[in-house]
Amino acid sequence: MTLQNQEEPGSRPDHAPIAGVIGWPIAHSRSPLLHGHWLKRYELPGAYIALPVHPEDLGAVLGILPRMGFVGVNLTIPHKEAALKLADIVTDRAALIGAANTLIFRQDGKIHADNTDGYGFIANLMQYAPDWRADQGPAAVIGAGGAARAVVASLLESGVPELRISNRTRLRADQIKSEFGAKVVVYDWAQAGNMLEGSRTVVNATSMGMAGKSPLKLPLEALSAGTLATDLVYTPLMTDFLKQAERRGCEIVDGLGMLLHQAAPGFERWFGIRPEVDDALREAVL
Ligand code: ATR
Repeated sequence: MTLQNQEEPGSRPDHAPIAGVIGWPIAHSRSPLLHGHWLKRYELPGAYIALPVHPEDLGAVLGILPRMGFVGVNLTIPHKEAALKLADIVTDRAALIGAANTLIFRQDGKIHADNTDGYGFIANLMQYAPDWRADQGPAAVIGAGGAARAVVASLLESGVPELRISNRTRLRADQIKSEFGAKVVVYDWAQAGNMLEGSRTVVNATSMGMAGKSPLKLPLEALSAGTLATDLVYTPLMTDFLKQAERRGCEIVDGLGMLLHQAAPGFERWFGIRPEVDDALREAVL
């Protein structure tokens, strides 16, 4: 029997869009809470779910999700680099960062990869420290992992005159310098405290200070009043780093807003509305 009026495989007639977050493990992701809040708030049909996917299965899963009504996914540890390689179209910023956190499954079957972490980082600063300007002076980034790469890319794009970076494993910081260019100055880990001297923006992009992880062990005496200090760690919201920075007269911005803002571009592409990042969302996610 031939069916009449069948849509092409992969098309999604009259089905509410589904998106999700892929990770391994995934149980602790706050993304379902955050996208769920927006879906409810804007009364949109659709769903956003957490998908536990083993690294070996990522390719197969990305091949099949679009055929099940999925319009895209977010990616978290450990899939961000692998997803970039599996995509058909890659934005400049994702290529520069070397990782993807947002995929869009296009109607033509192509997978479009983006990285919105750097955007989320800057949008968070603009919301909570509206007077902050990248060109006010050197920025110092502590850490050189995946999250740090997004921060470095976005700070350079925003116009910092000098980007100082220090990492326990120096090689990763050297690699960032070789990829991101002459404005990047690498400090030895033993000298990390010194790079804060004269820096106008200071970012903790390591996992140090996160609940359950080791505390941030770094001399912060060189932090000066008026400097913008921000932490990518948001559990706890008020990290020791931020507390110490505040005591030294720094302006501080916590890391939760980065998580919220990085989610907005994906939500807009999948569900059709640019969602707002406000206090109600912060409370829902906390
Ligand atoms: P993410 O994607 O969150 O950036 P990552 O790529 O694993 O995760 O990077 C974690 C960052 O925290 C790295 O800069 C890491 O330093 P190494 O490159 O030397 O591993 C840093 N980090 C984690 N634990 C640390 C610790 N106890 N002391 C110093 N740095 C630490």
